[in-house]
Amino acid sequence: MGKLEGKVAVITGAASGIGRSTAIRFAGEGASIVIADLNREGGEAAVRDCKENGGNAVFQLTDVAREEDIKGAVDRAVKEFGRLNVIYNNAGLGGAVGPIERTTAENWDRSFAILLRAVFLGIKYSVPEMRKAGGGSIISTASIAGLRGAPGLHAYCAAKAGVISLTRSASIELAKDKIRVNCICPGLIATPLTYNRIPGGEQTATQLFAAFQPWPRAGRPEDIAAMATFLASDDSEFVSGQAMVVDGAVTSGMVGGSIGQGSQNASSLLEEGWSGPSFEIKRPS
Ligand SMILES: NC(=O)c1ccc[n+]([C@@H]2O[C@H](COP(=O)([O-])OP(=O)(O)OC[C@H]3O[C@@H](n4cnc5c(N)ncnc54)[C@H](O)[C@@H]3O)[C@@H](O)[C@H]2O)c1
Repeated sequence: MGKLEGKVAVITGAASGIGRSTAIRFAGEGASIVIADLNREGGEAAVRDCKENGGNAVFQLTDVAREEDIKGAVDRAVKEFGRLNVIYNNAGLGGAVGPIERTTAENWDRSFAILLRAVFLGIKYSVPEMRKAGGGSIISTASIAGLRGAPGLHAYCAAKAGVISLTRSASIELAKDKIRVNCICPGLIATPLTYNRIPGGEQTATQLFAAFQPWPRAGRPEDIAAMATFLASDDSEFVSGQAMVVDGAVTSGMVGGSIGQGSQNASSLLEEGWSGPSFEIKRPS
């Protein structure tokens, strides 16, 4: 029996990358899924993938920047499958990119509408249905960019930090209803979001990402799908209000979170053995 047998989930941004991989994994674990995305072609392909993997799925054309579309995705889950147990607020993009003084207020607002306001709305509209179901699991995709800064990604970093904070406040309020609220902070994951704009595409991106972090391979959408599956399942019944970091140890370093393979040599700056006090101990002769 799958870990998500009988559960009904809405996944936003499920036409591509992390969302699509999670939908396929959820389907394999026995869930029924509403694939909510702007991209119809990718969404319908994801529905086929889910069915091939043994689950049930439908596509719902959704722009997460529109309140009525998010409500529509939740309503579709109830209409199609009878209830809602899980929502994964995952749709995203880079948003406003560039120096802060050249970032327009309009692009800032557009970024926040998709990266943070949509998460608030996903929580807002799923709560009444989860209460009816006796509880549920709300998952959102934040980012390690919500834990660390990144030059030129001001709106993205601020919005993802907001997702982490909203996760915490909502988890406290909703605990009494047995609704768990968690988010995932992926590191560098090879998806169209990250490799479509890199010359050399996926192959170059996977090499670059592997070199950038201690773990010797690039992050994969399946790594995030595995965490989402844990958070959606009853295995995480006592886990709420958390930002789960899945990043190949990239945020474990001391130097701005960017200690890669190459910088493992940094340890050679210290002599092997024992590093004693910086003063000389004078022993009485
Ligand atoms: N890939 C990474 O390295 C990485 C790291 C940290 C966080 N994230 C986050 O993971 C999430 C998924 O990104 P991904 O890497 O899988 O990218 P992706 O581009 O492969 O997938 C994102 C999906 O979101 C959809 N989407 C975008 N705007 C939408 C809108 N307004 N309404 C509905 N759907 C919309 C896209 O159509 C796409 O299917 C995003 O929230 C992203 O910020 C990604």
